[in-house]
Amino acid sequence: MDIVFLTKYYKFFISGTGVTLFLSFFGVIFGVIFGIFLALMKMSKKAVLRFPSVAYIELVRGTPLLVQLFIVYYGLPLLTGVEFPDLMLAIIAVSLNSAAYVAEIIRAGIQSIDKGQMEAARSLGMTNAMAMRYIIIPQAFKNILPALGNEFIVLVKESAIVSVVGIYDLMYRADTVRGISFKPFAPLVIAAIIYFIITFTLSKLVGNLERRLNASDSH
Ligand code: ARG
Repeated sequence: MDIVFLTKYYKFFISGTGVTLFLSFFGVIFGVIFGIFLALMKMSKKAVLRFPSVAYIELVRGTPLLVQLFIVYYGLPLLTGVEFPDLMLAIIAVSLNSAAYVAEIIRAGIQSIDKGQMEAARSLGMTNAMAMRYIIIPQAFKNILPALGNEFIVLVKESAIVSVVGIYDLMYRADTVRGISFKPFAPLVIAAIIYFIITFTLSKLVGNLERRLNASDSH
């Protein structure tokens, strides 16, 4: 692995890293937005809301992201007759996938708060909504926020799959460099190193966040 190699192709890795981060970031953002709705629906007492949410979550978590990506990438333009930009289709696929996992993160976070908290709040005269807003959600947040950070980390890695439909992410760029440099090994190792630097840094940040959020509990 020589330096010349790097100076010649470093721009591919930088732009690929940018696309990977962009895709993962918007993947979680839209995943969280949709995931909140799914979680609320799943916790609803009404079966008409609960059933579609449960079905969606089970279907998405029970099928490979690769299959979902293909369905969105080839199916959505066909169904709608609209020509979406490639990157947008990839973000849609990743978000739709992430939403199912985020929904479970949020639901588990909220349901992990002891029933007594809601009962105590209600007995103080709070409405259900007030108890949620002031008592349950702030506590649930401590579990949810770090878990969402982890979801972002998962997406940084899992998004490598979009390279198969030709999105110029880090994995795709590593393959490009592999093709034009005739070096099969080094570009992939560089990509792995970049992925690792990103995920390692992020997981340290999530760890710090977790500690800070829990600090207020330990006195
Ligand atoms: N490799 C998994 C699959 O094929 C992707 C899971 C995505 N996970 C997530 N937390 N968004 O389904």
